[in-house]
Formats: sequence, structure tokens, C-alpha cells
Amino acid sequence: MCGIVGYIGDRKAVPILLEGLKRLEYRGYDSAGIATLNRGKLTVRRCQGKIRGLEKVLKKKPVEGRIGLGHTRWATHGRPSEENAHPHTDCRGSLVVVHNGIIENYLSLKEELGKEGHVFRSETDTEIIAHLIEKYLCDSLEEAVRKALRRVKGSYALGAMWKGDSEKIIVARSGSPLIIGLKEGECFLASDIPAILKETRKVIYLENGEIAILSREGVKVKTLGNKPVAKKATEISWDTRLAEKEGYPHFMLKEIYEQPRAIEETIWGRISEDGSNIYLKEIGLSKREVKSIKRIIIIACGTSWHAGLVAEYMLEEYTRIPVEVEYAAEFRYRNPIIDKHTLIIAISQSGETADTLAAVKEARGAGGKVISICNVRGSSITRESDGVIYTHAGPEIGVASTKAFTSQLTVLYMLTLFLGRARETISPTACKKMITALRKVLEKLKLLLEDDRRIVAIADRFYRHNNFLYLGRGKGFPIALEGALKLKEVSYIHAEGYPAAEMKHGPIALIDKKMPVVVIALKGRRYEKILSNIEEVKARRGTVIALASEGDEEIKQKADEVIYIPRTIVPLTPILAVVPLQLLAYHMAVKRGCSVDQPRNLAKSVTVE
Ligand code: AGP
Repeated sequence: MCGIVGYIGDRKAVPILLEGLKRLEYRGYDSAGIATLNRGKLTVRRCQGKIRGLEKVLKKKPVEGRIGLGHTRWATHGRPSEENAHPHTDCRGSLVVVHNGIIENYLSLKEELGKEGHVFRSETDTEIIAHLIEKYLCDSLEEAVRKALRRVKGSYALGAMWKGDSEKIIVARSGSPLIIGLKEGECFLASDIPAILKETRKVIYLENGEIAILSREGVKVKTLGNKPVAKKATEISWDTRLAEKEGYPHFMLKEIYEQPRAIEETIWGRISEDGSNIYLKEIGLSKREVKSIKRIIIIACGTSWHAGLVAEYMLEEYTRIPVEVEYAAEFRYRNPIIDKHTLIIAISQSGETADTLAAVKEARGAGGKVISICNVRGSSITRESDGVIYTHAGPEIGVASTKAFTSQLTVLYMLTLFLGRARETISPTACKKMITALRKVLEKLKLLLEDDRRIVAIADRFYRHNNFLYLGRGKGFPIALEGALKLKEVSYIHAEGYPAAEMKHGPIALIDKKMPVVVIALKGRRYEKILSNIEEVKARRGTVIALASEGDEEIKQKADEVIYIPRTIVPLTPILAVVPLQLLAYHMAVKRGCSVDQPRNLAKSVTVE
């Protein structure tokens, strides 16, 4: 959470910082601020709310400078307000700090600094860092930052500037992500790649425990202990258009429509020429290790956890390995039982989710092998894993995850085939058929996205309702959960996902004509049972919106609204079924006038526990 940017070079800093902040706004939008240095003068502008508010402030009170820092905040310590907005300054206003993370021992440090006469103006943990640096500052900001960081416990990605040295920005990282962008005569700093993609594709990933000195001459990286570190720059290959809305009103909608491309790129290069096998070289497991897996634990949060639930059904069915799916935050504190035959699969779009990252460390510490499924190259979780299978969804900017989810499902499907073939629980012929079905799903997905009029009409009918129930069986159950989560996130409508059979054990009491029930009622083994659940809802005057398989005429007699999805093999149905639910949530949110890409209280990557 929180996004930080920085610039040093020969151009005006403000437009570059604002542009970067806009691209990081998905990380938090409670308040924003920038600071620049100009001929020894340090100026700070901040405001509560989004970047457009900051732009207004800067229009009224412009600032100059060719070196600067910026921040967009997701509040942890201290409510969203101008005083709590970053950058934070020391007592004399001689230095500024922007920070992403949490300083856990801030209260004891605040007490110590308070006794020494430091005066605090905010309720944040970050302000402590500014005062600590002030305490240690003589003639080198770098040295003072180093000393200050030795005192803090917690996580940070931070940038600091001092009016005593207008030629440097000092940055450091422990726990929260930070990248440095390089260009002739200029250096950039950001929490994530999209912020600087327009400026440069040459980046350095700062590692935990590293500190970097940014100047017009380039960057020097050292350890906190002051030892030089040789870093290699990475060339980012992302298409810049992926980080633009390209005519769509919202990133969420654009990303929903990008799903065929995201899946195609995720599949690309991973299928053997004859179409009968899957290559996952990055998996980081030897053949022997694959054969010796006795148990799989999937750890994730939110939407990624839902992808894990879908995988549980697939992996158990096709590889016959027992699978457990755990909320990362629960798993990490449970002293889990793991041995060398346990494979841990961590799923995370961002690769920075604090709970998933901690669970990965916990699992590895206990002797398990960890492979991660991630969308962000070089992210913290990937660096802590034994193997990584990347989804190639491209940057996901909308806070509600859409294309990352279906790309995760694609990887999990391929992983199932890979393990099934390696352990001979899937025959070459069956594998080939399943790969063919995967390729065909792409076309079906495109078809599904061609016409959303039905969904818009349903959104129009129901957007004023305040409660929804989502029901599904088998793989339809995690899709019900995901559909409900999407609706909650972007339209602020209360929605519950349930296994359809559980309805009669409680939620049925909620059903009346004001409660629309979305039922994932696709053809398959459990179809008849789902029809009975629909009858149960109807008998209580509930309204049913059914997600049905193309050609199913019977369901029309039972449900009030029907959304059809193309037929495919059962393990691939979640990829198709989730899309109308994403669109439904999106259109309802738009009709309710919600901030679709930046829903209240949320942030894209949750880097705090
Ligand atoms: C998805 O729409 C959510 N914004 C959220 O649940 C998300 O999936 C969760 O925070 C996990 O994020 P990750 O995949 O980046 O780890």
C-alpha cells in the first residue's frame, strides 16, 4: 500500500512526479503529496484525497525544482488527512521523507524523540523516520538515514531529501517494494514499474537491506552496513499501452476485455509442439521431487485464494495429490505441519502481499518447497520461492483483480496437466485433449466478451438492491465467492458466496423478493442438484440470476434471468464463468456511481498485515 515516486535530473520534477503518482494511485488514494528542492529551498505540497486534488493545490501554489519526491497514501497509522499525508518533515523543515510500509516500534521511538524535544505534527509512524534522521544528521544524509534505519523495526521503502544537499535522493528498502529507473543524466524512483515506464525501461530492483544514492550521475547501491553492491539493470519489456486505459472508461473494464490476450500470453511457449505436453521449466523442481510430492498446500489472499480453491478441485481430481487451501494470514501463525514432501503453492498477483510473503517464508523455514504463481517479475514473493511460474497478464491497475485471476486459473490448469503427466495420472491422449480445450477456451472467451448487453440489462434491473447471494457447487463455488467479492469491492453491495448445498443450513433464512440470488448452474455432474437449489430459492420468492451453459433451455423455466456461457470441459468452466460476474459487478458499480478503479478503503497490493 502507498506509492512512492522520486526524480532527479534536468527536467522539471513536478510533472514527472504527478504522472508517476497517477500510475501508482491504485496503491492508495487517501492523501497525496510532493516535495521538491530548488536552490536549497525545500517545498512541500500535500492534500487529503486523490492526486487530482494535489494537482489543484499545485496549480494554485506551484513549486519549482529538478529533484523531488512524491507519495500517494493508503492510511495505516493516522486517519486520511493533510497533516498525515507524506512527505513528512523534521522539526526544522530541512529534510523530507516518503515511506511505504509500517514502522512497528514507532511508539517507543516517538517517546524517546519527544523527550529529546522533537515536535510531531502527524499521527503517522513515518514522521518518526524524519525525526530520527534529523537526530543523526551532521553533514551526510546517507549516513543519517543509515543510522536511523538501524533503529527502526518493521517494513519500509523510503526516499529522503535534504536541503543541505540538493544533488541527492537517498532511498532504502526492507520489506516494501522499490525500483530505480535509469536514464542518461536522470534517476527515477518508484514503488512499481508503471510509474516510470513512460520514462525508462531500464530498472534496478532494490533488495531488502539495501540503500541507494540517486544523483544525476546515476545510482550507487550499498548495504545498510555501507558495503558497495554491484547491481545489474533489467530491461522491462512491457508494452506501455498496457498501463493506459486506451479509450476504456475504467482500467477494470479494459482489463476484463484483455483477458483473452492475458491468457494467450500466459500459455505462450508452455505447450509442446505436438500439443501433448506442458513445459514449466521455471517450476524449480526436479523430476524426482515432483514424483515425491505427497501433499500440496496452497496459500494466498483474496481473489488469488479463490484461484487456489479452484485449483484444489483440479489438482486432486487429476493428480490425486491431497490439496489444502489456506488463507495466508491464518497459515503463517498456525505452526503448520510441513515436510520435504509437501509442495507449497503461493498465489499472488502483486507478489508483495504481506501475509502471503510471510507464509512463504514460514513454509520454507519449515522445510517445504515453495513455488509461486505471480504476475510481477522480481517481486518479493518470487524472490523467496524455490520456483516461479509467471502469469503474463501485464500490469493490472484496477484494484479489483480480473485478468490476473483468469491468468492464475490458466497457470493452475497447466500445472495440473504438468504434474499429472509427470506422475502419470493423466495419459498423453487425455493431456492432448485438455490442451486443445484450453486453446479453444480463448476463442470462447472472445465470443463471450463480444456482447455484454444482457449483463448491462441485468445490472440495470438490480443495481439498487443492497444484498446479493452467490451460490455454486464444485468449481462453481469458488466462482460464486469471486463473483460476490467483485460485487462487494466495486459496488459496495453486500454479497455472500456460498456452496449451494449449504444454503439450507442458514442463508436460506435471508431469501425474500429483495434478495437476488446468482446461481452458477452449469451443465455437469451437479447440475440436477443445482436446479433443486434454484427451486428452493424460488419457493421462497427469491429472484434467481442463473449462469447457464449455452443451449440449456430448461433453466429458462426456472430462473428469472439467464446469462449463457459457451460450453467447455469442466475444469475450464471457471475461466469462462467468472467473466460475466466481473462484468455484472462492473456495470452495477458504474450505475451506482462508484469509483470503480479505486474503491473506497482498498489498495491494490496489501503490503501490511
Ligand atoms: C482482488 O480483487 C482484491 N483486490 C484482493 O482480494 C487481492 O486479490 C488480494 O489482496 C491478494 O492480492 P495478491 O494477489 O496481489 O496477493
